[in-house]
Amino acid sequence: MTILPSLHPESNIGVIGASGGIGRAFVEILASDAGVRQVHAFCRTPGKWESSKVVSHRLDLEDEESIEAAAAAATSAAPLDVVIVATGILHHGERIRPEKAMRQIDGKSLAEVLAVNSIGPSLVAKHFLPALRRDHKAVFAALSARVGSIGDNRLGGWTAYRMSKAALNMLIRTTAIEQARIAPDSVVVALHPGTVDTPLSKPFAKQVPESKLFTPAMAAMKLLGVLDTLSSDETGGFFAYDGSRIDF
Ligand SMILES: NC(=O)c1ccc[n+]([C@@H]2O[C@H](COP(=O)([O-])OP(=O)(O)OC[C@H]3O[C@@H](n4cnc5c(N)ncnc54)[C@H](OP(=O)(O)O)[C@@H]3O)[C@@H](O)[C@H]2O)c1
Repeated sequence: MTILPSLHPESNIGVIGASGGIGRAFVEILASDAGVRQVHAFCRTPGKWESSKVVSHRLDLEDEESIEAAAAAATSAAPLDVVIVATGILHHGERIRPEKAMRQIDGKSLAEVLAVNSIGPSLVAKHFLPALRRDHKAVFAALSARVGSIGDNRLGGWTAYRMSKAALNMLIRTTAIEQARIAPDSVVVALHPGTVDTPLSKPFAKQVPESKLFTPAMAAMKLLGVLDTLSSDETGGFFAYDGSRIDF
């Protein structure tokens, strides 16, 4: 059984941010999928995986050489059918805290959030999009967040995170247009996973009713289901875990 029947029957999949809550769930689900031949797991500190289908690679979003080398290593034998960018930062100790007011905007924190959430994924797109399969449906998906939607923003706050995800969304829209010219069956999208119980959401999860807080496995399963239903007609879009379209 495969949860991705729309893909090539022996697909190779890359997950960037394999050490994260949602990234790890993607790797584990895909490694047990009969339609997946190999899963390339990318993160800053590569570890061991139970499944022999998983190959670990080092990739640091703030080091372009590591991104280029990881893309080359993962695609030396075969192109990738799917690349999922599951990295991201919202807070980091005392250094990065989501802003509640304009006076809390800090240049260094803002630069760090943009480096991880916007610039890093841009470099991933630069080195991984050319390595996607071109003779069949192929997917490049980046985990964004609903709060990165400009049209949906009615609450304010979280300036750096919102800015960084809005920039990521523009990256997706722009690269989707270029990729469609060279690979007409490509699907390049931004995804909102819902609120998921991971280290990223931990400080804020108390405010979320239990029924609305997904486990990483639930979120990853839902997102893979969405990716399977999307076609090149939807490339360049922003989609939630339930398949609904989100306003940019
Ligand atoms: N959890 C939610 O409720 C939620 C909601 C909306 C959107 N999202 C989005 O979903 C994505 C995944 O989030 P998550 O909840 O799984 O977070 P997480 O558990 O904190 O994982 C974050 C991942 O990003 C990686 N990362 C951070 N900086 C990096 C860098 N410089 N180079 C390479 N990797 C780096 C981390 O690697 P290390 O292990 O090396 O630190 C880790 O793998 C993010 O884009 C997030 O914005 C999450």
